[in-house]
Amino acid sequence: MQPANVGIKPLLRVLGREPEETPPVWMMRQAGRYLPEYRAVREKAGGFLDLCFNPELAAEVTLQPVRRFGFDAAILFSDILIVPLALGRKVEFLVGEGPKLEPLADAESLSSLHETIDGKVLAPIYETVARVKSQLDTKTTLIGFCGAPWTVATYMVAGHATSDQAPARLFALRDPIGFGQLIDRIVEGSIEYLVGQLKAGAEVVQIFDTWAGVLGPDQFDKWCIRPTAKIVEGVRRQVPGAKIIGFPRGVNALALAYVEMTGVDAVGIDWTYEREIARDMLQPRVAVQGNVDPLALLAGGEALDREVDDVMATLGGGPLIFNLGHGILPPTPIAHVERMLKRVRAG
Ligand code: CP3
Repeated sequence: MQPANVGIKPLLRVLGREPEETPPVWMMRQAGRYLPEYRAVREKAGGFLDLCFNPELAAEVTLQPVRRFGFDAAILFSDILIVPLALGRKVEFLVGEGPKLEPLADAESLSSLHETIDGKVLAPIYETVARVKSQLDTKTTLIGFCGAPWTVATYMVAGHATSDQAPARLFALRDPIGFGQLIDRIVEGSIEYLVGQLKAGAEVVQIFDTWAGVLGPDQFDKWCIRPTAKIVEGVRRQVPGAKIIGFPRGVNALALAYVEMTGVDAVGIDWTYEREIARDMLQPRVAVQGNVDPLALLAGGEALDREVDDVMATLGGGPLIFNLGHGILPPTPIAHVERMLKRVRAG
């Protein structure tokens, strides 16, 4: 008799907390500027948002890194700032400057947001998901995503990327009720957005909380853990058993509370997280995703080999999704990605 899990994709198996001899591997920001084939399509598409809303081209750039490297997952090509856009905010991506939004300075300006997300805005994204799904082989998992409410709010409040997320932190400290209303709006929109992706064919969704690490424990509980728990619960109410990866970047010791209180199936950790602690405290509860330093991948050579070996030696005995601790950096040589994959797959 064959074991029941034969035929299940490796990444899904690990999300069920079964370790794999060779861990499934993908990279955050795997579709991007370090790939010449991405830069070519990006040029053809025009702006970054034009690419996100063009299902044919967005599906193509989603699949490029999977074809080139044989990753175990494809991640939908889109952006976390699509949710503010669908809530009626103006969002632009200026070359060399990153995202620009109309800032939301106070609770009064919340009245300019839509009550619910605009499904028409999101329709092309769901079409991208369906197109990618129809082209994937039987071992590659399709991951959808959204930004966590806190991280999305940091961009909505400031109107651009900031180094310390001070505008959103100040808003939250001065007017927690008003800030809570903004977070709730993003929670509701994100549930609908993730359910739409899962119904279109995504098999897993990841919630990116890139700026979780700037909050103290109380604020982290209020603005990251609780809203994420609401998303997990809201998504699973509509899609029972939905598989969810949380990535509360930079939170170190607070990752355990996040895991216990949100109900995610896997937690992404960055390279500052001590691997022995992830093995002893996190892997008995959930799968762990990570956590090669993207700068070690950029450096290559022995620095990269040491980093890969340490991830494998410490975390490889438990449920592990091999990944970076944050997105791949645009100047990273392709040969370094190949070197990393060869080493992971050689065992
Ligand atoms: O390959 C993938 O991972 C899927 C696509 C993806 C993008 N953004 C494409 C993108 C994903 C999952 C994201 C998530 C995202 N977007 C996050 C969370 C993860 C993280 O990296 O922390 C955040 C904070 C954003 C917001 C955002 N989008 C910023 C701050 C920027 C500008 C900085 C930059 O890297 O250029 C973007 C633009 C963006 N999103 C690009 C890509 C490929 C670069 C745009 C280009 O091609 O010029």
